[in-house]
Amino acid sequence: MSADAIDGAALDGVAATCLWTLRNRAEESRHPGSAFTDPLADDLHRRISYDYARFGKPGQIHPLRALALDSAIRAYLDRHPAATVVALGEGLQTTYWRLGRPAVDWLSVDLPPVIDLRRRLLPPEPRMTALPASALDRTWLDVPDPARGVFISAEGLFMYLGREEVLGLIAECAARFPGGQLFFDSIPPWISRRTMKGHRLSDRYTAPPMPFGLTVSEAARLPGRFPGIAAVEDVQPPPGRKAWRPGTLRKIADLPGLRELRPSITLVTFAEDR
Ligand SMILES: C[S@@+](CC[C@H](N)C(=O)[O-])C[C@H]1O[C@@H](n2cnc3c(N)ncnc32)[C@H](O)[C@@H]1O
Repeated sequence: MSADAIDGAALDGVAATCLWTLRNRAEESRHPGSAFTDPLADDLHRRISYDYARFGKPGQIHPLRALALDSAIRAYLDRHPAATVVALGEGLQTTYWRLGRPAVDWLSVDLPPVIDLRRRLLPPEPRMTALPASALDRTWLDVPDPARGVFISAEGLFMYLGREEVLGLIAECAARFPGGQLFFDSIPPWISRRTMKGHRLSDRYTAPPMPFGLTVSEAARLPGRFPGIAAVEDVQPPPGRKAWRPGTLRKIADLPGLRELRPSITLVTFAEDR
């Protein structure tokens, strides 16, 4: 390790999973011909010394999910230019810089060791606030001004939480932020069960338990379950390379039998003031 390298081993347990997703974005960003470009992710990845190979082979799902998130935030900010973006479990995500909209108010919420790394490694931004707290600790809900619009991302977060915790948080966001949106991704219950038995990504790394699984059809029923939810969209990630190119995986993903078995991205729209 060089003298100024940061040791990623300071993170463990669920906090260390942000190094897995960072590695996948950085690798994809370096890939010739990729639609995903993120020089800051590349820089972070190089500056954090870590045994990244323990996460197994790099994959495209995390960069493609990030592109889907970028599009959803852009669309919301186009309609609500004064809105606050709240990034729950933001890890070492660099969405703010990819978007290139420095005037947006940004609240980053993650566990204290992760926020500490963000503070040490990422450029300070006057519109960005970092809260070292659990997303389940409701203090963050008091920060954004609901009247200006609120976009909440929970990218790679909800699967690590309990079912009642997640559903309770969704209901509370719907009640507190009328007209807002929530972007989150889910694993299906069969993958959740597998992680509870110990899902090994390599011979040196077992992913933390992911107790919360959700099917596409259960996500589609959220509006009937919570009055504050006006609509949900099953978001398809944009096409990527090879197996992720247009027309292959995406077609398979919509086969009726597989719809319920695949991971998903959900964009929830909260009802306007009631
Ligand atoms: C798989 S990483 C995803 C990080 C980032 N969103 C991304 O896509 O790269 C999961 C993140 O959730 C954070 N996390 C886990 N439990 C949390 C909680 N209760 N509150 C806030 N953050 C949490 C972890 O510290 C980690 O940064």
